[in-house]
Amino acid sequence: MTQPIDLAVIGGTGLYRIAELQDVESHQPVTRYGAPSGPVRIGRLGERRVAFLARHGEGHSLPPHQINYRANLAALQALGATRVLALNTVGGITERFGPRVLGCPDQLIDYTWGRISTICEVASEGSGGTEVLHVDFGEPYTRALRAAVLAAAQRAGVALVDGGCYGATQGPRLETRAEIARMRRDGCDLVGMTGMPEAGLARELGLDYACLAIVANWAAGAGPDPDEVITLQDVLDNVAAASSGLPALLQALLDAP
Ligand code: HPA
Repeated sequence: MTQPIDLAVIGGTGLYRIAELQDVESHQPVTRYGAPSGPVRIGRLGERRVAFLARHGEGHSLPPHQINYRANLAALQALGATRVLALNTVGGITERFGPRVLGCPDQLIDYTWGRISTICEVASEGSGGTEVLHVDFGEPYTRALRAAVLAAAQRAGVALVDGGCYGATQGPRLETRAEIARMRRDGCDLVGMTGMPEAGLARELGLDYACLAIVANWAAGAGPDPDEVITLQDVLDNVAAASSGLPALLQALLDAP
């Protein structure tokens, strides 16, 4: 029988493992949607079972538009996960979200295109297609899980901005300044390339899902120096610095009463 998993964590750019995970076993499930981005590492944090999956692969080989989001979520679900904390590396658009800030957005706008964004498929013989689903998505992140993450951050003494709108872009290139200016007008606070279709698929699959956004840089033209060039090294350095509180936050989330 599948043992339950207390929390599944999907790591984004710069986040390829949870070093604190103990007694780690690796699983390579193949789902009806194909193979996930890489092995699912299941281990313990304290007394709790945690599954970890690197969204881009452990060697960061998959660009955002080529990630098999369905297989990733289905694999975690098949292994016993019911709630997923998505770690997403993002750019900051509005003032509250400068580099190295952690945020827990409560809204999103999807600007991606051409990605498989649903588990609804026309049923043909043997395909195992699903019924047509029109899931409610007015509140894209699970309210109770967001509240638990925010409370855990507070108990762990980790600063976490509550709320904000995540704009999911297609990538893999970064945005133009005009695109970011438009996203700001649209109401986006954060920009990343992997928030969708993941959140929508999680809802269709019935998984609890929340996003912990790690701000790696000012989005194009959004910071104090409008001519700033965003480098991968800056992104990775800022993710590493901003992630120092994550183990304590995760443990507090797992130990929640
Ligand atoms: N734009 C989109 N995705 C990102 C960014 C950005 O500026 N930084 C990290 N992921």
